[in-house]
Amino acid sequence: MKELAEILLKAESVVAVTGAGVSAESGVPTFRGPDGYWRSHRAEELATAEAFQRNPQLVWEWYNERRLAIAAKEPNPAHRILAGWEKRLPGFHLITQNVDGLHQRAGSRNVIALHGDIWEMRCGTENVTMRNEETPLRVIPPRCQRCGALLRPNVVWFGEALPQAALHRAEKLAETCDALLVIGTSAIVYPAAALPMLAKRRGAVVIEINPDETPLSAQADYRLRGKAGEILSAIDRAIHARSPRCARQEPAKVVGQRRKT
Ligand code: APR
Repeated sequence: MKELAEILLKAESVVAVTGAGVSAESGVPTFRGPDGYWRSHRAEELATAEAFQRNPQLVWEWYNERRLAIAAKEPNPAHRILAGWEKRLPGFHLITQNVDGLHQRAGSRNVIALHGDIWEMRCGTENVTMRNEETPLRVIPPRCQRCGALLRPNVVWFGEALPQAALHRAEKLAETCDALLVIGTSAIVYPAAALPMLAKRRGAVVIEINPDETPLSAQADYRLRGKAGEILSAIDRAIHARSPRCARQEPAKVVGQRRKT
């Protein structure tokens, strides 16, 4: 942990890429874990544009269920530590695949939400996005107050493109960071899963935190097997021990053979 604290404190830019595993300790199911959503639900019926076209009621009932469940949960130590690093580690950026909003509820402000936000809805006709935190939803399926059109959850479904601006920013950060943490993701859904390798190819140190092996594990410089909350707490303690006031160290050019642009 001391070594990792050193790397993170000396880095000019640190990126964390998170997945559903970070919210698991808050009691939010993952997608592919033992109690994951895709073990008991069919993504083709709930998380594609075609499914929404076919049966918006069914899709919204599921999102209503998820919103209700998430609203009853609290951010966990992993969320809070990453929110703290935003203030503590200059040059820290958080890229998440999670739509649950728990990073933001923990205080993270600088979040790139690659897969959207379950607390937002989008009007397909007017292409406007609106925030809606109503739980439970009074009307299913919800309709646009302005034009009456069907609203959809502002999340990225399978087969859909990611928001280009967010993806572009995420790729830029991955290409220019000194260290990239990959936390609680099975690293199989692209393009998010490509970010760690983008960073690695540019000389960044890649740190994986996951109780299980993933397709990325072999390429990671550090593989920390365990729960995000516990491992991030240990790293955070090492950071605090290393620099109680986190006096910003002069960045030493020790982290990977980075080519300075
Ligand atoms: N701490 C860290 N990692 C954990 C924990 C934990 N407490 N619990 C589980 N994990 C790990 C699992 O081992 C698994 O590798 O988190 C990962 C969760 O993987 P998925 O369920 O596949 O979730 P994710 O990688 O975020 O899925 C990516 O797929 O379904 C789509 O759009 C959805 O954003 C999602 C994307």
